[in-house]
Amino acid sequence: MMKTEIIKMLQTHRHDYISGEEISKKMNVSRTAVWKIINQLRQEGYDIESSPHKGYRLVAQSCDLNQSELEIALADNAVIDRVVYLQTVDSTNRYAKELGHQGPFESTLVVAETQTLGRGRLGRTWTSGEKQGIWMSLLLKPSIQPALAARITLLAAAAVSEAVDSVTALETCIKWPNDIILDHRKVCGILTEMSAELNHINYLVLGIGINVNQTEFPDELLDKATSLKNVGKQDYNRLEIVVKFIEIFSRYYRQLTVENDFSAVIDYVVRKSATLDREVDISSGAEKRRVYAKTIDGNGNLIVINESGEEEAVYFGEVSVRGINGYI
Ligand code: BTN
Repeated sequence: MMKTEIIKMLQTHRHDYISGEEISKKMNVSRTAVWKIINQLRQEGYDIESSPHKGYRLVAQSCDLNQSELEIALADNAVIDRVVYLQTVDSTNRYAKELGHQGPFESTLVVAETQTLGRGRLGRTWTSGEKQGIWMSLLLKPSIQPALAARITLLAAAAVSEAVDSVTALETCIKWPNDIILDHRKVCGILTEMSAELNHINYLVLGIGINVNQTEFPDELLDKATSLKNVGKQDYNRLEIVVKFIEIFSRYYRQLTVENDFSAVIDYVVRKSATLDREVDISSGAEKRRVYAKTIDGNGNLIVINESGEEEAVYFGEVSVRGINGYI
């Protein structure tokens, strides 16, 4: 796309002017067209200086999420074909599922600045304040058996944790299978939804909500939820986190779907797990059991010692860990 090409040109000439003529020659468009695009970029938040004789100069990077930066980040990505950036939407998961229904299929990243009906697991709602967090969904068609789809959730949890730690220098951990915890509270949740036949995934939507810069939470969430800013005491750049996440996620995703290798994800999750070597409560439906969480096996299942002292693999369920999410 022309816009992303022009941003790249300005970025490589950082601190120097590049003439409108040079851009128009390289792009093979008129100088008026260049001028129009420069104005669009200014509206997106890029600080571009212009001088009648010297041309254009990028003074400050647009440090926020926007369509162009996401396209640049995804330009050479082998997993994600396109990105849809929205100001507002009911739910990025709902939007991505709709794209999944329509053909032809393209792996898509959907990002929104705010959601009016953000959805959490088990029918809960997910508060998605404008520009305060990262509200995104990935529409994918993984070439794995539907029964193994939970691996993608665990893979995403590892990629979020690793990306957040690397950009913020904070230390998150993972509560199996899909919460990211910071300072004993939940900072990110993942909602995976899927359309599948018995042995074939039509599409899978991975919905990820990361609380980044909000400092206020409703009373009932105070002891359960937090944000990166609440813990790190500073604002964090959402674009940097998304870009890092995409990079790490894509590497793990290809390892799993192309090389059938899940070991790097398991190693990471075991190392960063908040769930292991302790008693945990597992609930699925009305049933609730207290077990000892021993390890996570090569398939991503939680291996527990049950009430009768036997080892057992748990495939799904809500896990409560003492001291996390307000569970005392
Ligand atoms: C959870 O309950 O922990 C899962 C929360 C998932 C929230 C994200 S925000 C982006 C995507 N769109 C939604 O409606 N939900 C997910």
